Amino acid sequence: MALKKLVAGNWKMNGSHAALAELDAIAPAARANPAVEVAICPPYTLIAAAARRGDVAVGAQDCHAAPSGAHTGCISAPMLVDAGAALAIVGHSERRQDNHETDADVNAKARAAMAAGLTAIVCVGETEAQRDAGEAVAVVSAQLAGSVPGDASASALVVAYEPVWAIGTGRTPAVSDVAEMHAAIRGRLVALLGGEGAAVRILYGGSVKASNALELLSVADVDGALVGGASLKAADFVPIIEAAAQASA
Ligand code: PGA
Repeated sequence: MALKKLVAGNWKMNGSHAALAELDAIAPAARANPAVEVAICPPYTLIAAAARRGDVAVGAQDCHAAPSGAHTGCISAPMLVDAGAALAIVGHSERRQDNHETDADVNAKARAAMAAGLTAIVCVGETEAQRDAGEAVAVVSAQLAGSVPGDASASALVVAYEPVWAIGTGRTPAVSDVAEMHAAIRGRLVALLGGEGAAVRILYGGSVKASNALELLSVADVDGALVGGASLKAADFVPIIEAAAQASA
């Protein structure tokens, strides 16, 4: 099934209000390519201002599992909706590593995001040692089983396959490895969610850039891209949107 491709930028801990000029430069490409859904996930401090720009969907990079309460420094999913966000990344490998987030934590955050009306982008991916040991598919399958809420609907869930060793390194898996993993993820999603699993978009993430985007986005079951470094500048991000449009044509 050909699903509408989603190209989402993850700005990570980068950007002040001056960076909204990049969003303004991305907007015309988003409007010109209606076959592609475009989103930017800026730091929390820019979500409201980015959402007010209106042309590009805005997401957060995390959310708390609870709607409110005594959790100093945390942001809940209903707060993100209030600020204008439409999506939330959960379970990014940097949070799994830096903040010791488990699959159960990620599952709870995804549930909270969906309950608030956000689309949850659930991230999974193996380390280099796990791939070298031949465990990549098994590791990702286990992450999916633990992280994806069993009652998720396809419209509220996106999965991002991000091999940890490909993030920010300039390295990407062989296209055949991407194809194998995305097919395996599709199979796991159908096993977990039934028919809904066939309609969940599966993004590839990890060193996506203008020069490799078309090849990656043309792989079966690659329904978009989660882009870190190359989302910070419109000049780098717009060609990825255009590649997604080309791959959808
Ligand atoms: P990268 O990051 O594109 O800079 O490799 C991807 C991500 O972490 O989502």
